[in-house]
Amino acid sequence: MTGGEKSKRTRSLILPTLNPAREAIRNRNSAYAAERFDRVKGLCDSAIVLARYLADGPYQFSMAFGRGTFNEFWGVTSENTEILNERRRWLREDEGRYLAVLPEAEELLKEARELGDQVNSPLDTTKIHSAARFFGEHWEPDYLLLKRGADGARLVCGCVCFPSSWALEEKIGRPIGEIHDVVPALNSTVGRQIQTFLERLKPGISWLRSNWGLSRSAERNQHPIRKTPRLDKSVTLSEVFFRVEEQSLVALPKSDGILFGIRLRIIPLEGYAGTVEGLKLATALETMPEPMAVYKGLAPARLRIISLLRG
Ligand code: HEM
Repeated sequence: MTGGEKSKRTRSLILPTLNPAREAIRNRNSAYAAERFDRVKGLCDSAIVLARYLADGPYQFSMAFGRGTFNEFWGVTSENTEILNERRRWLREDEGRYLAVLPEAEELLKEARELGDQVNSPLDTTKIHSAARFFGEHWEPDYLLLKRGADGARLVCGCVCFPSSWALEEKIGRPIGEIHDVVPALNSTVGRQIQTFLERLKPGISWLRSNWGLSRSAERNQHPIRKTPRLDKSVTLSEVFFRVEEQSLVALPKSDGILFGIRLRIIPLEGYAGTVEGLKLATALETMPEPMAVYKGLAPARLRIISLLRG
């Protein structure tokens, strides 16, 4: 590391004191990072979290997967009460928006119950709607169940209380290719690889990957109906949040299904201007194809955020 890089890294470690809400998010993320990544990867520095999610070089779709155990991803964290309270609140307010279950999900729900610590839960999986809701209220991650068939994997059940600007009700019953149709160039570049990966998913492992985006809100629930504030030319770094979806894919071999989980990390960008990680993010934004920037809702703000990050 050069002297210049070192001083930038040091700057990134001493982030300015923020307002209490932002501080709470930072503490939450540090605690999460400490618990999860220390255990999984043996290293942790909450100040370099951004770099962890960004590819070296230009922006690209990643088909890289890590390996973990079921409980590492799906188990309880220090945020358990807060997350479950919020999940239960959205399900109480508008279950139809956050929970969807088709009859084909029965065998998948039964098998999902046998995984990890859920094995002893007093769950009656013959009542598939209540089983689906039980997982939605007791697991921290959002979850989706896909049934594999001759025509690929199809979404048959899910509880998504913290969507990143998409609606479960529009996706339920659809095959994975169709679900991804709205993501520019995804199917034409890595669509085949995704299908093959899902077809051959090796059981007994929690396969890990992530997606990232930017948001003008730190809210977990960004369902389109909520009209989350848009990023535009007027943003300041203190209003922008790096929103990561940590994902786990677990094969359900008996029911020929897949359990897909999504956990959020929400990282305020304030303090990253001129840092190694901030510059890496600026490069990713600069090299992102325009249709992808439009899809991610950051096109109108992209030049502004790049210039703020470069400091
Ligand atoms: C296995 C490999 C997978 C890869 C590489 C992948 C990749 C992606 C990417 C790059 C995006 C765009 C997100 C962004 O950049 O902002 C996306 C969106 C999405 N993916 Fe996947 N994905 C995978 C599996 C799945 C699975 C198993 C599901 C389960 C249904 C799923 C459901 C979705 C949904 C719902 C969206 C949002 C689409 C929208 O905006 O309407 N993905 N995926």
